[in-house]
This record gives sequence, C-alpha cells and structure tokens, in this order.
Amino acid sequence: MTAPRSVFLTGTSTGLGRAAVALFSERGWRVVATMRAPEREHELGALPGVVLKKLDVDDPDAITAVVAETLAEGPIDVLFNNAGYGLVGPFEAASDEQIVHNLTTNLLGPMRVAQAFIPAFRERGTGVILTTTSIGGLVTMPFTSVYHAAKFGMEGWSESLSYELKPFGIRVKTLAPGGIRTDFSGRSLDRTHHEAYAEALDTAAGRFLDPARDATRSSAEEIAKVAYDAVTDGTDRITYIAGVDAQEYHRLRERLGQSGYVAEATRLFFGD
Ligand SMILES: NC(=O)c1ccc[n+]([C@@H]2O[C@H](COP(=O)([O-])OP(=O)(O)OC[C@H]3O[C@@H](n4cnc5c(N)ncnc54)[C@H](OP(=O)(O)O)[C@@H]3O)[C@@H](O)[C@H]2O)c1
Repeated sequence: MTAPRSVFLTGTSTGLGRAAVALFSERGWRVVATMRAPEREHELGALPGVVLKKLDVDDPDAITAVVAETLAEGPIDVLFNNAGYGLVGPFEAASDEQIVHNLTTNLLGPMRVAQAFIPAFRERGTGVILTTTSIGGLVTMPFTSVYHAAKFGMEGWSESLSYELKPFGIRVKTLAPGGIRTDFSGRSLDRTHHEAYAEALDTAAGRFLDPARDATRSSAEEIAKVAYDAVTDGTDRITYIAGVDAQEYHRLRERLGQSGYVAEATRLFFGD
C-alpha cells in the first residue's frame, strides 16, 4: 500500500485554509494544519488524517522548529502557504508597524516557510509549493497598495523560484483568488485612516462592497477545490486565477493594458 500524500498548510483556523484542510482530509491525505491558536480549535483536529500544529508565520524561529518537527514525523509532498490578511486605506497614513507587519505575514512568511521545506523537497526530488496570492497580485485596486506590494511580490517570487527548483522536481505555483466570503474583509482586515482621503475611500469602499459585486465572490470551498487541482494536476502551470470576479479583472487587464485598466478601475471605483 502506498502512503497517503501529505500537505502542510498555514493559516487554517478559518476561511480558505480551513476549507482546504477539510478537502484534503476528505480526499485521504495526511494533513498538517497549522494555525496561530490550535488550542481554540475543536473540530479540524478530529478530521481523518489531520494533525494540528501551532504556527505564527511572523515568527521565523517557530517556522524552523515546526517544519523540522513535521519532517521528522514523515515526508511532506505539498506546502500550501495560505496565511495572510489585508491592509486597506490610504498609504500615507499607514504606520511603519502596519506596513512591516503586513509584509512580514504576506511576503516574508511564505518565503521563510518555503525555505524551510526546500532542502527536504530537493533531496526527495519532488514537492509542490503553492502560495495563496490574490487577483490583487496581478491587477490593482485603490487603497490597498501595501497588500498589492506583498501579493505582486509573491507572484514574482514564485515565478522566479520555479526556474531554479524545476530541475529538482519541485513545482512552484500560486493561487490567485478574487473575493472569497471569509473573515478577510471583517475581523482579519487592518485599516489606515486619513481625513484627506476619507471621501474617496468611502466611495471606493461603497463600490467594493456593492451587493452586485458580492454575487461574483466565491465560497472558500470553491477556491479550495482550485487549490487542490493546482497541486494535483501534474503540470508546470504556475498561476491559478480562481473565481468569476478574478477572471473578469484579469481579462480586463489583459485586454486594456496598464493605462486602460487603471482608467477603467478608476471609473469602476470612483466614477458615476
Ligand atoms: N477573502 C478574500 O477575498 C481573499 C481574496 C484574495 C486572496 N485572499 C487570500 O486568501 C488567504 C486566506 O484568507 P481568507 O480569505 O481565508 O481569510 P481569513 O478567513 O481571514 O483567513 C486568514 C487566515 O490567515 C491566518 N493568519 C493571519 N496572520 C497569520 C499569521 N501571522 N500566522 C499564521 N496565520 C495567520 C488567520 O489566522 P487567525 O485565525 O489566527 O487570525 C486565518 O486563519 C490570504 O492569504 C488572503 O490574502 C483572500
């Protein structure tokens, strides 16, 4: 009997990460589900094949320790870097702490976790590194510049890394979802405030939260299926754009180019 395939995930307490844990478990995988507060989790750990571990991806020492502990327990086939959160509001008003924190979680965290796994993947000659970026890693929207810096960064990092890891049998991929109905826009969201931008931010936020737009958002379960397909399709495809809204934004950018896209997004977020 062959051993079940195994996946290590970050950010699994809620949303996409949680849905992915349930899906991988259902498909018979061995699942190492990491989260900041496993002591508060009472359901995921009871799913078949699922082991919970504590990990805050902002903590480099914790990353080293938990990856070493995981690999000592058995090989891992797939790393799914999923932990992340948004920062919305005018850049001028972002504190250094807010910027550093957002980039630490969304950009440095996935890099550090990947670096901890790469030696084991290289030695086995196999492995997949999937990172949740966002359609915001490929196109822009107003008032989310730091988040875009992190997510565009992860897109570039993943594509570049794919060249050097392919000869060792390691595939590097990104999952670029549009809106997902999760805690992302609620409890997880960090914000900045500045009076000079208040009216523009209100207008853009109103457009962003328009109920008509909500209909194009995806469920965490739908996006988790795309993640599952990405790591099992056996191809060298790098980016998986997930969700109707994400596909629309991407098509718009491809069709209109940079200036045309920015003009259209300006109309969508600020125009009549
Ligand atoms: N929802 C969307 O519209 C959307 C769109 C595009 C991309 N994404 C991306 O999708 C990913 C998952 O987000 P989601 O939509 O599922 O939102 P979510 O429900 O807020 O889940 C985010 C997860 O990341 C975890 N997390 C945050 N900081 C962490 C840290 N320092 N260390 C470990 N875990 C941390 C949270 O843990 P705690 O419970 O401890 O806070 C939570 O489990 C993120 O990378 C996000 O940027 C989301």
